[in-house]
Amino acid sequence: MVHNGIIENFRALREDLAAQGLAFESETDTETIALLTRHHLDSGMTPVEAVAATLKRLDGAFALAFLFDGHDDLMIGARKGSPLAVGHGKGEMYLGSDAIALAPMTDQVTYLEEGDWVVLTRAGAQIYDAQGRLANRPTTRIRLDQARVDKAGHKHFMAKEIAEQPSVLAASLGFHTANGQTSLALPEGVDFSTCDRVTMVACGTGHYATQVAKYWFEQLAGVPVETDIASEYRYRQPVLSDKAVGIFVSQSGETADTLAALRHVTGKVARTIGVINVPTSSIARETDVALSIHAGPEISVASTKGFTAQLLVLLLLALKAGLDRGRLTEAQVSAHLETLRGLPALMAQALDHEPEVEALAVRLAESRDALFLGRGVMYPLALEAALKLKELSYMHAEGYASGELKHGPIALIDKNMPVIVLAPHDALYDKTVSNMQEVMARQGQVILISDRAGLEEAGDVWARLVMPNVPDLLAPMVYAVPAQLLSYHTALARGTDVDQPRNLAKSVTVE
Ligand code: F6R
Repeated sequence: MVHNGIIENFRALREDLAAQGLAFESETDTETIALLTRHHLDSGMTPVEAVAATLKRLDGAFALAFLFDGHDDLMIGARKGSPLAVGHGKGEMYLGSDAIALAPMTDQVTYLEEGDWVVLTRAGAQIYDAQGRLANRPTTRIRLDQARVDKAGHKHFMAKEIAEQPSVLAASLGFHTANGQTSLALPEGVDFSTCDRVTMVACGTGHYATQVAKYWFEQLAGVPVETDIASEYRYRQPVLSDKAVGIFVSQSGETADTLAALRHVTGKVARTIGVINVPTSSIARETDVALSIHAGPEISVASTKGFTAQLLVLLLLALKAGLDRGRLTEAQVSAHLETLRGLPALMAQALDHEPEVEALAVRLAESRDALFLGRGVMYPLALEAALKLKELSYMHAEGYASGELKHGPIALIDKNMPVIVLAPHDALYDKTVSNMQEVMARQGQVILISDRAGLEEAGDVWARLVMPNVPDLLAPMVYAVPAQLLSYHTALARGTDVDQPRNLAKSVTVE
């Protein structure tokens, strides 16, 4: 039996089974499911009856697959809270967590719905709903470009996904604009005209994308914004407004906490918008409107192109909000879109600096800790850069708003502390420079990532990385590139598993 998820009542089930004389070999909830099924088989049930009886007793979130000794033409799957899809082959059938997992075998996929379970033989599948009734779920053909999951000559999926960002963002911009990319082309339900606030909920990297977007929505649309981590939001008692727009950001579209947060507000706010990468995912299906970031399959566990493609779509949403609320004219939106057309080329220029980043990463890899600093939109980017470094290289890293330094973290600064400063030469630059000088005065090793004007003004820093000059609105996407490359090369230098860091899953379908 294979199990993804958590069985919440497994202790009670375990005690029950132990009382009936069954012996356990592990402490896992997974073993409880296997033993419960075995118990049903021993009482004379067929495999299908045994699984049906087991499923009735399980509380929690799970995707399950069962094989039975002596039944070599039978596999049973079940989903509740975790995704599961059936793949149709020629004379063979598959179970997988999603279309991408099944892509090397087949492009014919049936998505199971919440509570469904399925009996597979080599000849086909019979799907039942949670009430045990036969269910008819459609089979879809996955587009081959969605299913293409090779490294395209790169050493790692992460390297490929970082490198393809210019083309991904160019394509996504094309999808969401019209008239030669001079006007927005977002679905009808995307409307902020009467909303009294925007609430954005996500986890991890998606959450940092929403934190950047908060600055944009405030600046471009003058609308109050709250952002929260889904695992907090779903258990808070957020004050909901029936005029609010809820934006739920998730690359996989299956993150359990984000889905639960969405369900928490559904029907209580004016509308929900999903910013997703997998159009067939639960969050895409359950939001009122789902906008794809069009990033293509993201295989590396650490999100890179997903992050910048989320930023792009959130920026387009902020422009739409500005337009709907009369803060921006069509001409101003067009001007911003014109600026955005320069984004792929700027990202490509940022990618050109990979050799310098690599050399720097070799030095950074010697350290135990690292601090990232940024101001304004560079603050959430500092948080994202720190997350990327810690998950890939297992180094301890923290991100801080530059202005927070003297409220505590400055105590950490000594000659062994690398401090990576993300600071384009913008209106906040001078303030960041004074924070940087505070670090240098305490022998901290400043690595400054800035444009030529910024680097010239900064004076003598420990190391520097030059970025192209970028318009303010594009800076978070462009500066994400050196942050991603730095964590990638630091991980390589430290010999960690880049695409599959320890203890992490690509799609966190349990809370
Ligand atoms: C970090 C990373 C995670 C995800 C988070 C949410 O590199 O990838 O922090 O961003 O697990 O996942 P999604 O966007 O699929 O909801």
